[in-house]
Amino acid sequence: MAQLWGGRFTKQTDEAVKAFNDSIGFDKRLYREDITGSIAHAQMLGAQSIISSDEAGQIIEGLKGILADVEDGSLAITNEYEDIHSFVEANLIDRIGDAGKKLHTGRSRNDQVALDMKLYTRRKTMEIRRHVSGLLTTLLSLMEENTDTYMPGFTHLQKAQPTTLAHHLGAYFEMFKRDAGRLDDCLVRMNYCPLGSGALAGTTYPLDRSMTASLLGFTGPTLNSMDSVSDRDYLIELMSALSLIMMHLSRFSEELITWNSNEYRFVEMDDAFSTGSSIMPQKKNPDICELVRGKTGRVYGDLMSLLTTMKGLPLAYNKDMQEDKEPAFDAIDTAEACISLFSEMLSTITFRKEVMRLSAVRGFTNATDAADYLVVKGVPFRDAHGIIGRLVLHCIDENKSIDEMSLDELKAFSPAFEEDLYDAVSLKTCVEKRLTLGAPGPYIMKRVIAEEKEWLSSWNSRIADEIA
Ligand code: ARG
Repeated sequence: MAQLWGGRFTKQTDEAVKAFNDSIGFDKRLYREDITGSIAHAQMLGAQSIISSDEAGQIIEGLKGILADVEDGSLAITNEYEDIHSFVEANLIDRIGDAGKKLHTGRSRNDQVALDMKLYTRRKTMEIRRHVSGLLTTLLSLMEENTDTYMPGFTHLQKAQPTTLAHHLGAYFEMFKRDAGRLDDCLVRMNYCPLGSGALAGTTYPLDRSMTASLLGFTGPTLNSMDSVSDRDYLIELMSALSLIMMHLSRFSEELITWNSNEYRFVEMDDAFSTGSSIMPQKKNPDICELVRGKTGRVYGDLMSLLTTMKGLPLAYNKDMQEDKEPAFDAIDTAEACISLFSEMLSTITFRKEVMRLSAVRGFTNATDAADYLVVKGVPFRDAHGIIGRLVLHCIDENKSIDEMSLDELKAFSPAFEEDLYDAVSLKTCVEKRLTLGAPGPYIMKRVIAEEKEWLSSWNSRIADEIA
């Protein structure tokens, strides 16, 4: 028996229709969740005397046997079944006979699939949280090592003001920290159990929905059976959170690709995380970053796909909803792989600190500080801005940096320049004096790092306590 229905049919399903309708090809990955959910359902049916405790016991043993056999490879999930629910139920009946036919009492595949997807998505969200935590840990240790690694900060991709590598990486830390919060939020709203909602209108059996919800680690049961079987918000929320993670990874990738270019040479990618060219022997390409950037579009597409699927659906369950699985699985697989590979790659990158420093020295990133110097000497800021602008133009012609100009040359631009200018516009001073909260000055940066470290360790202990 490969089908769960058929009583009211007089003809076999057309082959092409079966292939079109079946979901086993992609929902087989839900086998563990399907079995776990069924075990809880059977336990509750027994506790409520809807089936006998002997029958419940047989069902639970049978289900555990199926799980063990699937996991050790002795039982293959084949395409003859319509979906994973049919596979599990048919195998259960094969194994234990009539008691197996009672498992589906008070249940529909509509609440069953809603439960399976929630259990799966919850597990995966937790795994993804751990990958995000790994990435945050890598970032934080790079930040700790690089509070004195000077580099140019950019606006419009033009050198703007000096900063440090710790500060630049710290911007990504904030992004992924917000992502961590979004994953937390998704889990809070996701964690309500739809089991017991039946096809759409509950059931006449005296189910104990709180019992199954608590057996399965949910905060509680959902409160409207129609919504329960047709809610896919949690998938859309997760895919939105994953899209943001991908957007952040993609921006980071774009920067690393630029930094790895022959022109920038700020970083050297590890050989293990780069690839070569079949024709150009000199090439070492940042393919991981390019793929992460490329796969971002794919995750956005998954999100758009499900949003579009859901937009016109009447209540309650419609088969359209089977189309939630491939995009959700794809988004989860893609984001998970990208986050974990990206963090590994990041931890093996070499930053060429001297190249970064020279780039900051040569790019007039201290021009604002030179203007501020004049302000301290009594020149109004707007005038100081004009003076330094003219000075920079001159320096570009002379191919010099501001601090390579002699004091006499400087005085031709403003009599306010004195010997202490050189110290005031040195890269070290420019960075060290940026001490507003959130700025790159190493003193304040270290305080921020300490605060983030504390946050990360408390987040880590919170996510370690979770039901996995
Ligand atoms: N394969 C289906 C899905 O993924 C399972 C639910 C089927 N329910 C139904 N009434 N046909 O949505």
